[in-house]
Amino acid sequence: MTVTADTTRLQAVSIVSALRANNGSLSSLLVPYRKQNLPEQQALLQAICFGVCRHYEQLLYLSTQFLKKPLRKKDEDISCLMLIGIYQLLYMNMPDYAVVNECVESCRKLKKNWAKNLLNAVLRSVQREGQELLDSAQSEPSIHYSHPQWLIRQLAADWPEDYLQILEANNIQGPMTLRVNQLLTSRQDYLQVLASKSISAHPGVICDSAVILEQACDVNALHGFSAGLVSVQDEASQVAAQILQVRNSDRVLDACAAPGGKSCAILEYAPEAQLLALDNSQSRLDKVRENLQRIGLRAELLCADLLHQAGQWRRQELFFDRILLDVPCSATGVIRRHPDIKLLRQPDDIEKLKVLQQAMLLECWPLLKPGGKLLYTSCSLLQAENNQQIQAFLHNTPDAAELDINLAWGHKLNHGRQLFPSPGAHDGFYYALLQKC
Ligand SMILES: C[S@@+](CC[C@H](N)C(=O)[O-])C[C@H]1O[C@@H](n2cnc3c(N)ncnc32)[C@H](O)[C@@H]1O
Repeated sequence: MTVTADTTRLQAVSIVSALRANNGSLSSLLVPYRKQNLPEQQALLQAICFGVCRHYEQLLYLSTQFLKKPLRKKDEDISCLMLIGIYQLLYMNMPDYAVVNECVESCRKLKKNWAKNLLNAVLRSVQREGQELLDSAQSEPSIHYSHPQWLIRQLAADWPEDYLQILEANNIQGPMTLRVNQLLTSRQDYLQVLASKSISAHPGVICDSAVILEQACDVNALHGFSAGLVSVQDEASQVAAQILQVRNSDRVLDACAAPGGKSCAILEYAPEAQLLALDNSQSRLDKVRENLQRIGLRAELLCADLLHQAGQWRRQELFFDRILLDVPCSATGVIRRHPDIKLLRQPDDIEKLKVLQQAMLLECWPLLKPGGKLLYTSCSLLQAENNQQIQAFLHNTPDAAELDINLAWGHKLNHGRQLFPSPGAHDGFYYALLQKC
Protein backbone atom coordinates (compact mmCIF):
# COMPACT_ATOMS: atom_id res chain seq x y z
CA MET A 1 0.00 0.00 0.00
CA THR A 2 1.31 3.48 -0.81
CA VAL A 3 1.47 6.01 2.00
CA THR A 4 -0.49 8.40 -0.24
CA ALA A 5 -3.45 6.05 -0.79
CA ASP A 6 -3.60 5.33 2.94
CA THR A 7 -3.47 9.02 3.88
CA THR A 8 -6.08 9.85 1.27
CA ARG A 9 -8.48 7.23 2.62
CA LEU A 10 -8.14 8.63 6.14
CA GLN A 11 -8.75 12.15 4.82
CA ALA A 12 -11.87 10.81 3.11
CA VAL A 13 -12.99 9.29 6.43
CA SER A 14 -12.82 12.76 8.04
CA ILE A 15 -14.72 14.39 5.19
CA VAL A 16 -17.50 11.77 4.99
CA SER A 17 -17.85 11.86 8.75
CA ALA A 18 -18.19 15.69 8.72
CA LEU A 19 -20.81 15.48 5.97
CA ARG A 20 -22.83 12.92 7.95
CA ALA A 21 -22.76 15.34 10.90
CA ASN A 22 -23.86 18.19 8.58
CA ASN A 23 -20.62 20.01 9.39
CA GLY A 24 -19.87 21.60 6.02
CA SER A 25 -20.27 20.90 2.34
CA LEU A 26 -18.13 18.73 0.11
CA SER A 27 -16.56 21.74 -1.62
CA SER A 28 -15.74 23.54 1.65
CA LEU A 29 -14.39 20.39 3.32
CA LEU A 30 -12.11 19.54 0.39
CA VAL A 31 -10.45 22.99 0.29
CA PRO A 32 -7.99 22.62 3.23
CA TYR A 33 -6.52 19.44 1.71
CA ARG A 34 -5.71 21.19 -1.59
CA LYS A 35 -2.58 22.78 -0.13
CA GLN A 36 -1.20 19.66 1.52
CA ASN A 37 -2.01 17.06 -1.18
CA LEU A 38 -0.28 16.43 -4.49
CA PRO A 39 -2.67 17.01 -7.42
CA GLU A 40 -3.21 13.30 -8.08
CA GLN A 41 -3.82 12.66 -4.35
CA GLN A 42 -6.39 15.47 -4.26
CA ALA A 43 -8.06 14.04 -7.38
CA LEU A 44 -8.31 10.64 -5.67
CA LEU A 45 -9.70 12.20 -2.48
CA GLN A 46 -12.28 14.09 -4.52
CA ALA A 47 -13.24 10.98 -6.52
CA ILE A 48 -13.78 8.96 -3.31
CA CYS A 49 -15.78 11.66 -1.52
CA PHE A 50 -17.97 12.54 -4.51
CA GLY A 51 -18.53 8.84 -5.24
CA VAL A 52 -19.52 8.01 -1.66
CA CYS A 53 -22.06 10.87 -1.68
CA ARG A 54 -23.41 9.95 -5.11
CA HIS A 55 -24.02 6.30 -4.10
CA TYR A 56 -24.60 6.94 -0.40
CA GLU A 57 -27.97 5.19 0.04
CA GLN A 58 -26.68 2.06 -1.71
CA LEU A 59 -23.51 1.95 0.38
CA LEU A 60 -25.47 2.47 3.58
CA TYR A 61 -27.92 -0.27 2.60
CA LEU A 62 -25.12 -2.79 1.96
CA SER A 63 -23.26 -1.92 5.15
CA THR A 64 -26.40 -2.46 7.25
CA GLN A 65 -27.16 -5.74 5.48
CA PHE A 66 -23.82 -7.21 6.53
CA LEU A 67 -23.54 -5.79 10.04
CA LYS A 68 -25.12 -7.84 12.82
CA LYS A 69 -25.70 -4.69 14.86
CA PRO A 70 -25.15 -0.99 14.15
CA LEU A 71 -21.76 0.45 15.09
CA ARG A 72 -21.60 2.79 18.09
CA LYS A 73 -21.57 6.56 17.60
CA LYS A 74 -17.96 6.74 18.81
CA ASP A 75 -17.01 4.40 15.96
CA GLU A 76 -18.22 6.80 13.28
CA ASP A 77 -14.75 6.64 11.69
CA ILE A 78 -15.13 2.87 11.15
CA SER A 79 -18.65 3.34 9.71
CA CYS A 80 -17.23 5.87 7.21
CA LEU A 81 -14.25 3.68 6.39
CA MET A 82 -16.70 0.86 5.66
CA LEU A 83 -18.75 3.02 3.27
CA ILE A 84 -15.55 4.11 1.52
CA GLY A 85 -14.36 0.49 1.21
CA ILE A 86 -17.72 -0.61 -0.23
CA TYR A 87 -17.64 2.30 -2.69
CA GLN A 88 -14.13 1.39 -3.81
CA LEU A 89 -15.11 -2.28 -4.26
CA LEU A 90 -18.18 -1.49 -6.32
CA TYR A 91 -17.21 1.61 -8.29
CA MET A 92 -13.46 2.18 -8.43
CA ASN A 93 -11.12 0.48 -10.78
CA MET A 94 -9.00 -1.18 -8.06
CA PRO A 95 -8.26 -4.86 -7.36
CA ASP A 96 -10.62 -6.15 -4.65
CA TYR A 97 -7.81 -7.63 -2.55
CA ALA A 98 -6.07 -4.22 -2.44
CA VAL A 99 -9.25 -2.44 -1.29
CA VAL A 100 -9.90 -5.00 1.46
CA ASN A 101 -6.28 -5.12 2.68
CA GLU A 102 -5.85 -1.35 2.65
CA CYS A 103 -9.13 -0.66 4.46
CA VAL A 104 -8.31 -3.26 7.11
CA GLU A 105 -4.89 -1.65 7.51
CA SER A 106 -6.54 1.77 7.94
CA CYS A 107 -8.23 0.42 11.11
CA ARG A 108 -4.78 0.20 12.65
CA LYS A 109 -4.05 3.81 11.69
CA LEU A 110 -7.31 4.80 13.36
CA LYS A 111 -6.10 2.89 16.44
CA LYS A 112 -9.04 0.51 16.21
CA ASN A 113 -7.43 -2.86 15.68
CA TRP A 114 -10.58 -4.52 17.04
CA ALA A 115 -12.42 -3.43 13.82
CA LYS A 116 -10.01 -5.22 11.44
CA ASN A 117 -11.88 -8.53 11.39
CA LEU A 118 -15.24 -6.81 11.19
CA LEU A 119 -14.24 -4.67 8.21
CA ASN A 120 -12.60 -7.65 6.53
CA ALA A 121 -15.80 -9.70 6.93
CA VAL A 122 -18.15 -6.96 5.68
CA LEU A 123 -16.02 -6.08 2.68
CA ARG A 124 -15.58 -9.74 1.70
CA SER A 125 -19.37 -10.24 1.93
CA VAL A 126 -19.89 -7.19 -0.30
CA GLN A 127 -17.35 -8.63 -2.74
CA ARG A 128 -19.29 -11.93 -2.87
CA GLU A 129 -22.92 -10.80 -2.64
CA GLY A 130 -23.03 -7.00 -2.89
CA GLN A 131 -24.07 -6.69 -6.51
CA GLU A 132 -26.69 -9.44 -6.17
CA LEU A 133 -28.21 -7.69 -3.15
CA LEU A 134 -28.37 -4.40 -5.02
CA ASP A 135 -29.99 -6.13 -8.01
CA SER A 136 -32.67 -7.59 -5.78
CA ALA A 137 -33.35 -4.16 -4.23
CA GLN A 138 -34.06 -2.59 -7.63
CA SER A 139 -37.73 -2.09 -6.88
CA GLU A 140 -36.80 0.19 -3.94
CA PRO A 141 -36.12 3.58 -5.64
CA SER A 142 -34.16 5.07 -2.74
CA ILE A 143 -31.62 2.25 -3.06
CA HIS A 144 -31.74 1.83 -6.82
CA TYR A 145 -31.33 5.57 -7.49
CA SER A 146 -29.43 6.33 -4.26
CA HIS A 147 -31.56 9.30 -3.18
CA PRO A 148 -33.19 9.98 0.21
CA GLN A 149 -36.80 8.80 0.36
CA TRP A 150 -38.27 12.22 1.23
CA LEU A 151 -36.72 13.75 -1.89
CA ILE A 152 -37.94 10.96 -4.17
CA ARG A 153 -41.46 11.40 -2.73
CA GLN A 154 -41.35 15.16 -3.37
CA LEU A 155 -39.97 14.84 -6.90
CA ALA A 156 -42.57 12.15 -7.71
CA ALA A 157 -45.36 14.41 -6.42
CA ASP A 158 -44.08 17.41 -8.43
CA TRP A 159 -43.08 15.56 -11.62
CA PRO A 160 -44.93 12.23 -11.78
CA GLU A 161 -43.94 11.66 -15.42
CA ASP A 162 -40.35 12.84 -15.20
CA TYR A 163 -39.02 12.02 -11.76
CA LEU A 164 -37.33 8.71 -12.63
CA GLN A 165 -35.41 10.39 -15.43
CA ILE A 166 -34.47 13.21 -13.04
CA LEU A 167 -33.16 10.70 -10.48
CA GLU A 168 -31.10 8.98 -13.16
CA ALA A 169 -29.71 12.28 -14.48
CA ASN A 170 -28.77 13.34 -10.93
CA ASN A 171 -26.35 10.40 -10.76
CA ILE A 172 -24.48 11.28 -13.96
CA GLN A 173 -21.70 13.80 -13.48
CA GLY A 174 -22.40 17.10 -15.28
CA PRO A 175 -20.10 18.20 -18.12
CA MET A 176 -17.63 21.06 -17.86
CA THR A 177 -19.27 23.99 -19.65
CA LEU A 178 -17.65 27.28 -20.60
CA ARG A 179 -19.17 30.69 -21.11
CA VAL A 180 -17.42 32.43 -23.99
CA ASN A 181 -16.93 36.15 -23.34
CA GLN A 182 -18.50 37.53 -26.49
CA LEU A 183 -16.99 40.95 -25.80
CA LEU A 184 -13.59 39.42 -26.57
CA THR A 185 -14.21 36.56 -28.98
CA SER A 186 -16.96 34.55 -30.67
CA ARG A 187 -18.10 31.06 -29.73
CA GLN A 188 -17.18 29.85 -33.23
CA ASP A 189 -13.63 31.22 -32.94
CA TYR A 190 -13.17 29.75 -29.47
CA LEU A 191 -14.39 26.33 -30.66
CA GLN A 192 -11.75 26.52 -33.39
CA VAL A 193 -9.04 27.34 -30.86
CA LEU A 194 -10.09 24.33 -28.79
CA ALA A 195 -10.06 22.09 -31.87
CA SER A 196 -6.56 23.31 -32.78
CA LYS A 197 -5.44 22.18 -29.32
CA SER A 198 -7.19 18.78 -29.74
CA ILE A 199 -9.75 19.60 -27.03
CA SER A 200 -13.10 18.11 -28.11
CA ALA A 201 -16.05 20.42 -27.50
CA HIS A 202 -19.43 21.37 -28.94
CA PRO A 203 -21.78 24.35 -28.70
CA GLY A 204 -24.43 24.37 -25.98
CA VAL A 205 -28.04 24.24 -27.14
CA ILE A 206 -29.92 26.70 -24.92
CA CYS A 207 -27.44 29.56 -24.73
CA ASP A 208 -25.35 31.07 -27.54
CA SER A 209 -22.32 31.71 -25.32
CA ALA A 210 -22.05 28.10 -24.08
CA VAL A 211 -19.38 25.58 -25.06
CA ILE A 212 -19.51 22.07 -23.62
CA LEU A 213 -16.23 20.20 -23.23
CA GLU A 214 -16.23 16.44 -23.88
CA GLN A 215 -13.83 16.04 -20.96
CA ALA A 216 -13.23 18.23 -17.94
CA CYS A 217 -9.79 19.84 -17.73
CA ASP A 218 -7.80 22.25 -15.56
CA VAL A 219 -9.19 25.76 -16.22
CA ASN A 220 -5.70 27.24 -16.18
CA ALA A 221 -4.82 25.07 -19.17
CA LEU A 222 -7.64 26.69 -21.20
CA HIS A 223 -6.60 29.24 -23.81
CA GLY A 224 -7.32 32.78 -22.59
CA PHE A 225 -8.82 31.77 -19.22
CA SER A 226 -6.65 34.16 -17.19
CA ALA A 227 -7.45 36.96 -19.67
CA GLY A 228 -11.19 36.42 -19.25
CA LEU A 229 -11.93 34.91 -22.67
CA VAL A 230 -13.88 32.10 -21.02
CA SER A 231 -15.35 31.24 -17.62
CA VAL A 232 -16.72 27.99 -16.25
CA GLN A 233 -20.51 28.13 -15.94
CA ASP A 234 -23.33 25.73 -16.72
CA GLU A 235 -25.48 26.93 -19.60
CA ALA A 236 -28.62 26.94 -17.47
CA SER A 237 -26.95 29.71 -15.42
CA GLN A 238 -25.53 31.54 -18.44
CA VAL A 239 -28.92 31.92 -20.04
CA ALA A 240 -30.23 34.03 -17.12
CA ALA A 241 -28.35 37.07 -18.51
CA GLN A 242 -30.06 36.68 -21.89
CA ILE A 243 -33.51 36.30 -20.35
CA LEU A 244 -33.09 39.47 -18.25
CA GLN A 245 -32.03 41.45 -21.37
CA VAL A 246 -30.08 44.11 -19.53
CA ARG A 247 -29.39 47.31 -21.51
CA ASN A 248 -26.17 49.32 -21.23
CA SER A 249 -28.11 52.22 -19.72
CA ASP A 250 -29.61 50.08 -16.91
CA ARG A 251 -28.98 50.18 -13.20
CA VAL A 252 -28.98 46.51 -12.19
CA LEU A 253 -29.16 44.76 -8.84
CA ASP A 254 -27.79 41.21 -8.57
CA ALA A 255 -29.44 40.59 -5.21
CA CYS A 256 -27.73 37.27 -4.31
CA ALA A 257 -24.62 37.60 -6.38
CA ALA A 258 -21.83 35.37 -5.10
CA PRO A 259 -19.70 33.78 -6.49
CA GLY A 260 -20.62 36.06 -9.35
CA GLY A 261 -21.21 33.80 -12.35
CA LYS A 262 -24.41 35.58 -13.34
CA SER A 263 -23.07 39.09 -12.52
CA CYS A 264 -20.22 38.48 -14.97
CA ALA A 265 -22.55 37.00 -17.60
CA ILE A 266 -24.79 40.10 -17.30
CA LEU A 267 -21.83 42.45 -17.74
CA GLU A 268 -20.51 40.49 -20.71
CA TYR A 269 -24.00 40.99 -22.19
CA ALA A 270 -24.22 44.73 -21.29
CA PRO A 271 -20.74 45.95 -20.21
CA GLU A 272 -21.81 49.56 -19.57
CA ALA A 273 -24.64 48.62 -17.20
CA GLN A 274 -24.28 49.90 -13.62
CA LEU A 275 -24.34 46.66 -11.66
CA LEU A 276 -24.55 46.36 -7.90
CA ALA A 277 -23.64 42.86 -6.69
CA LEU A 278 -24.93 42.13 -3.18
CA ASP A 279 -24.35 39.05 -1.05
CA ASN A 280 -24.33 38.42 2.69
CA SER A 281 -21.16 36.32 2.58
CA GLN A 282 -17.89 38.27 2.44
CA SER A 283 -15.81 35.22 1.53
CA ARG A 284 -18.15 34.42 -1.36
CA LEU A 285 -18.18 38.09 -2.39
CA ASP A 286 -14.37 37.94 -2.63
CA LYS A 287 -14.89 35.36 -5.40
CA VAL A 288 -17.11 37.86 -7.25
CA ARG A 289 -14.28 40.38 -7.09
CA GLU A 290 -11.75 37.80 -8.37
CA ASN A 291 -14.04 36.86 -11.25
CA LEU A 292 -14.72 40.47 -12.24
CA GLN A 293 -11.00 41.29 -12.10
CA ARG A 294 -10.00 38.29 -14.23
CA ILE A 295 -12.54 39.22 -16.90
CA GLY A 296 -11.89 42.98 -16.65
CA LEU A 297 -15.44 44.00 -15.73
CA ARG A 298 -16.70 46.65 -13.31
CA ALA A 299 -19.38 46.41 -10.62
CA GLU A 300 -20.08 47.74 -7.15
CA LEU A 301 -19.89 45.03 -4.49
CA LEU A 302 -21.76 45.13 -1.20
CA CYS A 303 -21.72 42.65 1.65
CA ALA A 304 -25.09 42.95 3.39
CA ASP A 305 -28.25 41.04 4.25
CA LEU A 306 -30.73 41.71 1.46
CA LEU A 307 -33.58 41.63 3.95
CA HIS A 308 -32.09 44.62 5.83
CA GLN A 309 -30.43 46.45 2.96
CA ALA A 310 -33.56 46.64 0.79
CA GLY A 311 -35.38 48.83 3.35
CA GLN A 312 -32.44 51.22 3.50
CA TRP A 313 -32.38 51.59 -0.29
CA ARG A 314 -36.13 52.22 -0.31
CA ARG A 315 -35.64 55.05 2.19
CA GLN A 316 -32.81 56.43 0.03
CA GLU A 317 -35.06 56.06 -3.04
CA LEU A 318 -32.49 53.97 -4.87
CA PHE A 319 -34.30 52.05 -7.62
CA PHE A 320 -33.25 49.60 -10.33
CA ASP A 321 -34.24 48.90 -13.95
CA ARG A 322 -33.39 45.22 -13.67
CA ILE A 323 -33.11 42.88 -10.67
CA LEU A 324 -31.74 39.37 -10.72
CA LEU A 325 -32.93 37.41 -7.69
CA ASP A 326 -31.03 34.10 -7.79
CA VAL A 327 -32.34 32.81 -4.49
CA PRO A 328 -30.64 30.46 -2.00
CA CYS A 329 -32.44 27.15 -2.59
CA SER A 330 -32.40 23.39 -2.10
CA ALA A 331 -30.05 23.07 -5.11
CA THR A 332 -31.92 19.92 -6.14
CA GLY A 333 -31.27 20.79 -9.81
CA VAL A 334 -27.50 20.52 -9.37
CA ILE A 335 -27.22 17.28 -7.37
CA ARG A 336 -25.10 15.80 -10.17
CA ARG A 337 -22.46 18.49 -9.43
CA HIS A 338 -22.99 18.54 -5.64
CA PRO A 339 -23.98 14.99 -4.63
CA ASP A 340 -23.48 15.89 -0.94
CA ILE A 341 -26.92 17.56 -1.18
CA LYS A 342 -28.32 14.04 -0.86
CA LEU A 343 -26.85 13.84 2.64
CA LEU A 344 -27.08 17.46 3.73
CA ARG A 345 -30.55 18.57 2.69
CA GLN A 346 -33.41 17.75 5.08
CA PRO A 347 -37.18 18.04 4.47
CA ASP A 348 -37.60 20.95 6.90
CA ASP A 349 -34.94 22.95 5.02
CA ILE A 350 -37.47 23.40 2.22
CA GLU A 351 -39.97 25.12 4.52
CA LYS A 352 -37.25 27.52 5.78
CA LEU A 353 -36.04 28.24 2.25
CA LYS A 354 -39.59 28.95 1.08
CA VAL A 355 -40.01 31.60 3.79
CA LEU A 356 -36.64 33.22 2.95
CA GLN A 357 -37.26 33.20 -0.81
CA GLN A 358 -40.71 34.81 -0.48
CA ALA A 359 -39.31 37.45 1.90
CA MET A 360 -36.50 38.24 -0.57
CA LEU A 361 -38.97 38.60 -3.40
CA LEU A 362 -41.17 40.92 -1.34
CA GLU A 363 -38.18 43.05 -0.25
CA CYS A 364 -36.78 43.36 -3.78
CA TRP A 365 -40.03 44.26 -5.52
CA PRO A 366 -40.32 47.87 -4.23
CA LEU A 367 -36.75 48.50 -5.47
CA LEU A 368 -37.82 47.99 -9.07
CA LYS A 369 -38.66 51.04 -11.23
CA PRO A 370 -42.06 51.06 -12.96
CA GLY A 371 -41.63 49.10 -16.20
CA GLY A 372 -38.54 47.42 -14.71
CA LYS A 373 -37.99 43.64 -14.85
CA LEU A 374 -37.11 41.16 -12.14
CA LEU A 375 -35.85 37.67 -12.97
CA TYR A 376 -36.42 35.11 -10.19
CA THR A 377 -34.20 32.05 -10.60
CA SER A 378 -33.29 28.98 -8.59
CA CYS A 379 -31.35 25.78 -9.16
CA SER A 380 -34.19 23.87 -7.49
CA LEU A 381 -36.50 21.31 -9.05
CA LEU A 382 -39.15 21.68 -6.35
CA GLN A 383 -42.35 23.50 -7.22
CA ALA A 384 -42.60 24.87 -3.66
CA GLU A 385 -39.47 26.96 -4.32
CA ASN A 386 -40.35 27.86 -7.90
CA ASN A 387 -43.72 28.29 -9.59
CA GLN A 388 -45.63 28.11 -6.29
CA GLN A 389 -43.53 30.98 -4.97
CA ILE A 390 -44.31 33.06 -8.05
CA GLN A 391 -48.00 32.16 -7.85
CA ALA A 392 -48.19 33.32 -4.21
CA PHE A 393 -46.25 36.49 -5.00
CA LEU A 394 -48.41 37.43 -8.01
CA HIS A 395 -51.54 36.78 -5.97
CA ASN A 396 -50.43 39.33 -3.34
CA THR A 397 -48.76 41.91 -5.60
CA PRO A 398 -51.18 43.85 -7.82
CA ASP A 399 -48.45 45.82 -9.64
CA ALA A 400 -46.61 42.66 -10.75
CA ALA A 401 -47.21 40.98 -14.11
CA GLU A 402 -45.53 37.88 -15.45
CA LEU A 403 -43.74 38.06 -18.81
CA ASP A 404 -43.57 35.03 -21.06
CA ILE A 405 -40.09 33.51 -21.42
CA ASN A 406 -40.53 32.74 -25.05
CA LEU A 407 -37.81 30.15 -25.61
CA ALA A 408 -37.81 26.72 -27.21
CA TRP A 409 -36.34 24.76 -24.32
CA GLY A 410 -37.50 23.55 -20.89
CA HIS A 411 -41.00 23.05 -19.52
CA LYS A 412 -43.42 25.94 -19.52
CA LEU A 413 -45.29 25.89 -16.18
CA ASN A 414 -48.34 27.82 -14.99
CA HIS A 415 -45.69 30.34 -13.85
CA GLY A 416 -42.14 30.39 -15.22
CA ARG A 417 -40.03 27.82 -17.00
CA GLN A 418 -38.33 24.73 -15.57
CA LEU A 419 -35.29 22.88 -16.86
CA PHE A 420 -34.54 19.34 -15.69
CA PRO A 421 -30.90 18.21 -15.48
CA SER A 422 -29.89 16.71 -18.80
CA PRO A 423 -26.97 14.26 -19.14
CA GLY A 424 -24.14 15.81 -21.15
CA ALA A 425 -25.97 19.16 -21.22
CA HIS A 426 -27.48 21.70 -18.78
CA ASP A 427 -28.30 21.55 -15.04
CA GLY A 428 -31.80 21.70 -13.56
CA PHE A 429 -32.95 25.34 -13.22
CA TYR A 430 -36.02 27.56 -12.87
CA TYR A 431 -36.77 31.06 -14.25
CA ALA A 432 -39.69 33.45 -13.86
CA LEU A 433 -39.63 36.93 -15.41
CA LEU A 434 -41.77 39.62 -13.77
CA GLN A 435 -42.46 43.22 -14.74
CA LYS A 436 -43.66 46.12 -12.62
CA CYS A 437 -46.80 47.65 -14.09
C1 LIG B 1 -27.73 30.61 -5.50
S1 LIG B 1 -26.46 31.48 -4.73
C2 LIG B 1 -26.15 32.76 -5.89
C3 LIG B 1 -25.30 32.35 -7.07
C4 LIG B 1 -24.91 33.54 -7.94
N1 LIG B 1 -26.07 34.28 -8.40
C5 LIG B 1 -24.08 33.15 -9.14
O1 LIG B 1 -24.61 33.03 -10.24
O2 LIG B 1 -22.86 32.98 -8.98
C6 LIG B 1 -27.31 32.32 -3.48
C7 LIG B 1 -26.48 33.36 -2.74
O3 LIG B 1 -27.36 34.04 -1.83
C8 LIG B 1 -26.58 34.48 -0.74
N2 LIG B 1 -27.52 34.83 0.36
C9 LIG B 1 -28.20 33.99 1.18
N3 LIG B 1 -28.96 34.70 2.05
C10 LIG B 1 -28.76 36.01 1.76
C11 LIG B 1 -29.26 37.22 2.31
N4 LIG B 1 -30.12 37.21 3.34
N5 LIG B 1 -28.84 38.38 1.78
C12 LIG B 1 -27.96 38.40 0.75
N6 LIG B 1 -27.45 37.28 0.19
C13 LIG B 1 -27.85 36.11 0.69
C14 LIG B 1 -25.65 33.32 -0.47
O4 LIG B 1 -24.49 33.75 0.21
C15 LIG B 1 -25.34 32.83 -1.89
O5 LIG B 1 -24.13 33.34 -2.34
